[in-house]
Amino acid sequence: MMKVDGKDMRPIWLHEDGQTVQVIDQRRLPHALVVLDLKKVDEVIMAIQEMVVRGAPLIGVTAAYGVFIAALNALGRSDPAAFFNQECDRIKAARPTAINLIWGVERVAAAVNGLDDVSRIETARDEAGRIAEEEAENCRLIGEHGLVIVEDISKQKAGRTVNILTHCNAGWLACIEYGTATAPMYAAFERGVDIHIWVDETRPLNQGARLTAWELGKHGIDHTIVTDNAGGHLMQHGMVDLVIVGTDRTTHTGDVANKIGTYLKALAAHDNQVPFYVALPSSTFDWELKDGLADIPIEERDPDEIRYVQGLYQGQVKKVMISPEASRAANHAFDVTPARLVTGFITERGVCKANQAAIQGLFPEKTGSDNI
Ligand code: MRU
Repeated sequence: MMKVDGKDMRPIWLHEDGQTVQVIDQRRLPHALVVLDLKKVDEVIMAIQEMVVRGAPLIGVTAAYGVFIAALNALGRSDPAAFFNQECDRIKAARPTAINLIWGVERVAAAVNGLDDVSRIETARDEAGRIAEEEAENCRLIGEHGLVIVEDISKQKAGRTVNILTHCNAGWLACIEYGTATAPMYAAFERGVDIHIWVDETRPLNQGARLTAWELGKHGIDHTIVTDNAGGHLMQHGMVDLVIVGTDRTTHTGDVANKIGTYLKALAAHDNQVPFYVALPSSTFDWELKDGLADIPIEERDPDEIRYVQGLYQGQVKKVMISPEASRAANHAFDVTPARLVTGFITERGVCKANQAAIQGLFPEKTGSDNI
């Protein structure tokens, strides 16, 4: 279990009343640790859209619990089954890029298919809980497989510090435990490997500076926050041994959608022969889409996220404008890194190259769209 000031924490859990889903409000970190209750589907959708919860695996688990809430709220409606299906569709549409959202809803919906209105509730709750446990275990395994890569570099450097660069937050806050990109870091730290993490600030919402830095700091892992544009410079000067990022959706052909700026990091890594790994659980693979650039939907968010910045001023969280009032801003939230720029994937089943055959070699039971 991940610790915050000695206390075991996850970003989502079911309250002991058995009906309320509780989440850490990630909008408030790192300055306040606030827990929000989710009891209605509207609240679940708000939490996903406003990024109270974010990061692909956590979006998937929240969506799964959202289906449980939909099942609860369906009781007593004139047509509970129709209400339930409608609510599932609304959850699926909350954010477009992370495929875990659709995956989480569909997995719970399939588990309750054909059940009566009362049994649907308990089964949905159990399935959502099962997904949360599985994702935690997947991330633990990603850590074990990724550790080998970090240890190899450490040996090549005769035990000198391994410098790892990461973008956005693909930590336990974005998952359930360990994180995806951070899992090998936590595993390496536990084994005493000397590591240091370059944390991209990740404009506009600063998931790196706010969340990854907070997580790593709470765990005692040495890290330094850098601007999003610093990565290329650090790589040119031999200050990055390895890049590990997460992903919101990866095609079964190996194209990677992740937080805006990931592609530029991959280009710089390629130019400087720095290994560039993407860590993901199988729930983040899209087994249908083939061409990531053409086909993965890229979320465009409110331009005000760019025009304003939020931070602590004299003990209070304030939001201030940083652009001219009249300037337009465009907020493309993700980009796609083509498979050719990716050194490999770190999954719960092991590490593989970024191509269709290698991915299918690890997940032979999944068939891509061209094999159907
Ligand atoms: O907009 P966000 O904060 O949800 O974006 C998150 C990311 O881009 C993460 O890198 C990705 O979801 C992987 S989380 C393990």
